[in-house]
Amino acid sequence: MASDSQKTRDLDDMQKLVSLAKRRGFVFQSSEIYGGINACWDYGPLGIELKLNIKQAWWNSMTRRPDIEGLDAAILMHPLVWKASGHVDGFTDPLVDCKKCKNRFRADQIDTSKGCPSCKGELTEPRNFNLMFKTFMGPVEEDAAVVYLRPETAQGIYVNFLNVHTAARKKVPFGIAQIGKAFRNEITPGNFIFRTREFEQMEMQYFVKPGSDDEWMASWKERRLQWYLDHGFRRENLQFHQHGKGELAHYAKAAFDIQYKFPFGWQELEGIHNRTDFDLGRHQEFAKKSLEYFDEHTKEKFLPYIIETSAGCDRSLLACLCDAYREEGEGDDLRVVLKFHPKLAPVKVAFLPLSKKEELTGPTQRLQQEFVEDMVTQYDETASIGKRYRRQDEIGTPLCVTFDFDSLNDKKVTVRHRDTMAQDRVDLTQLKDYVRQKLKNFSN
Ligand code: GAP
Repeated sequence: MASDSQKTRDLDDMQKLVSLAKRRGFVFQSSEIYGGINACWDYGPLGIELKLNIKQAWWNSMTRRPDIEGLDAAILMHPLVWKASGHVDGFTDPLVDCKKCKNRFRADQIDTSKGCPSCKGELTEPRNFNLMFKTFMGPVEEDAAVVYLRPETAQGIYVNFLNVHTAARKKVPFGIAQIGKAFRNEITPGNFIFRTREFEQMEMQYFVKPGSDDEWMASWKERRLQWYLDHGFRRENLQFHQHGKGELAHYAKAAFDIQYKFPFGWQELEGIHNRTDFDLGRHQEFAKKSLEYFDEHTKEKFLPYIIETSAGCDRSLLACLCDAYREEGEGDDLRVVLKFHPKLAPVKVAFLPLSKKEELTGPTQRLQQEFVEDMVTQYDETASIGKRYRRQDEIGTPLCVTFDFDSLNDKKVTVRHRDTMAQDRVDLTQLKDYVRQKLKNFSN
């Protein structure tokens, strides 16, 4: 039996992750040298690789099927879009201020009858605060020039429904996928990159015939859960949460969240919504342009219903880091390891010469060169081999290739596996195939 110190421990404290993320170059505070700016974060060298891998995995899963097309709409849109969508009038949170300590809270997240949660001071009456960022288009700062930074990518898809349908000659049911930045002036951002004011969404809107919407909703719900499982997320850390009547957004007939068990509790990772024909109906009304679909086969005209899958890229990345994080051992034997699925791991293979001697460093670097076009690799010759393995564990590199003195004669290298720490001796002529196979046939 494993002793307590050998047992694997999950992430119990977000601060450990925040400090690892900074130290190893996943996530930095934005404008840090100026003291930072609240709820904005920058992705470092490893963070951007991880983020790109998440986006690519999502993009491939959506667009490598015949019924879904991609889109990249502008962030700035006609202001009427946000009137039609309901965001100008309804995208608000109830805000209260503490009269004593001046802190701000969302009235729906605290018990206002108990006063300020920080200092027990008296709170103001709740007032509605619109979460959209406003700016001005052109040189004159006047009401007529107001535009918004989009608070969701979805509307860019709805207003392009007819364009994509015509250009890509798609028949309902079909979907449009988009990844892009969204902005919300959140009252209470926080928990690292969980709730920020600038973030990326990965959204797919699936246009279906009314009447088939319940079936498509059920199907997309399962597919989206499966996507997380296929990318290494642990099943016990994922659950569905169905929105009750009071929780449903104004546009939704039904809604499920996929929630993740973060160290700070179960929280929404992605929303799956049956938006009915609300959005197309509203745009049709405000743009005064028919958005109806004509079914050539049945000769019917109708406004499609929309099933939406809306995931936060930054939130997926945070969940991915939390899920992958493990600690083993104690004190000097402590091993922190990020057990990423190899598809998502920022670095796939590290090349390590056993010593700094030129007779080993030269061949190791030449070996690395054979891989650089295919995958992200690292080369490290500093510190002991044990320390270098630990460093790679901490950034989640699935495989380390060590070139030692024997390699010069037997033309073999040691491949060390992140999760089991097992080591194989592999012939140099077989190495590429071996690495490809191991990265592909991964299971944890
Ligand atoms: N188009 C539907 C929509 O935007 P939402 O539930 O408001 O629905 C979808 O947002 C997803 O976007 C959330 O599940 C979350 O992953 C992400 N998201 C929303 N607000 C966020 C914020 N302030 N910071 C980071 N991610 C956010």
